[in-house]
Amino acid sequence: MARYLVTGCAGFIGSHLTEKLVETFAPNGDVIRGLDNFETGKRENLTNVLDRIEFRECDLRDDAAVADACRGVDYIFHVAALPSVPRSVKDPRTSHTANVDGTFNLLEGARAAGVRRIVYSASSSAYGNQPGFPRVETMVPMPIAPYPVQKLAGEFYMKSYWQIYGIETACLRYFNIFGPRQVPDSPYSGVMAKFTLMMMRGERPTIFGDGEQGRDFTYIDNAVSANILAMTVPAEKIAGRVFNVACGERHSINKTFRILAELLDFKEQPIYGPPRTGDIRDSLADISAARDAFGYSVAVSFEEGLRRTVEWYKQQYAEVAAG
Ligand code: UD1
Repeated sequence: MARYLVTGCAGFIGSHLTEKLVETFAPNGDVIRGLDNFETGKRENLTNVLDRIEFRECDLRDDAAVADACRGVDYIFHVAALPSVPRSVKDPRTSHTANVDGTFNLLEGARAAGVRRIVYSASSSAYGNQPGFPRVETMVPMPIAPYPVQKLAGEFYMKSYWQIYGIETACLRYFNIFGPRQVPDSPYSGVMAKFTLMMMRGERPTIFGDGEQGRDFTYIDNAVSANILAMTVPAEKIAGRVFNVACGERHSINKTFRILAELLDFKEQPIYGPPRTGDIRDSLADISAARDAFGYSVAVSFEEGLRRTVEWYKQQYAEVAAG
């Protein structure tokens, strides 16, 4: 019997991963433990699994509670973070304590508990405005805003704990993950969720800049499968390494707006505003390292992901859709 711990299990990515782990491993008698402080996660995201996991309400900044949550654990998916580039620009200290101190507390807890492997949710924002596309993991990171600096610090810590303490750590650099459960109504919401809800409400979204900036938008199921694959392959394939998790395609914000508008039958034009401080211009991944190391492939395309996402928001926010 193995025990898995998911940090941030009530969040957008963490809750999807937790569901998949329960479905895949619980039938073998494995135990799934999850922790979340509900700062950005939501209790309702756990509805399908709460009675099948060991849940702990716990903040990563609380080192004693984190150490306790690591006891008896073999494998950790470290998904918890205070995300958003603009949030970190506005309030870098709060993001720092969650993302850097929190990650450090987890590593120390894992070391004391003899945890075998950690798969860490890293961020493609680490590449910053580094010239050259697609992004390859060997490129020198050039983070701009505090958030990518914090996530990158976590990567270096992961690598250190592999080299010094032998914990098998792997870092997955996510490229704009989107899908059901992404929070649509916070000032820090990802563009896809935010635009979807606004258009459902009949409101015109604002595009920052000329809208020709691009992102390698990646549907949630791809990120979940990358996590599970990275956790299950032999250590020599992944330990101490960093991997892009993306689709390997770049889509502009203008194009994304147009597809969403069509799916939602939204007839109006977007508003164009000034570019957002701290934003990178473009993002596009080379995903061959993840494919070669642990057999990652794109299971759900950008277009299919958009359709599934819009369907989910229509169901979830039916009262908005009904006007
Ligand atoms: C996102 C993630 C971040 C992750 C990074 C790399 C979110 C909230 N952030 O950052 O955690 O590390 O990808 O994978 O998911 N935009 C508009 N109008 C809006 C909102 C956004 O035009 O109202 C534009 C932004 O200027 C940007 C693009 O949409 O060019 C994407 O923005 P956003 O969804 O916030 O994601 P990232 O900043 O790329």
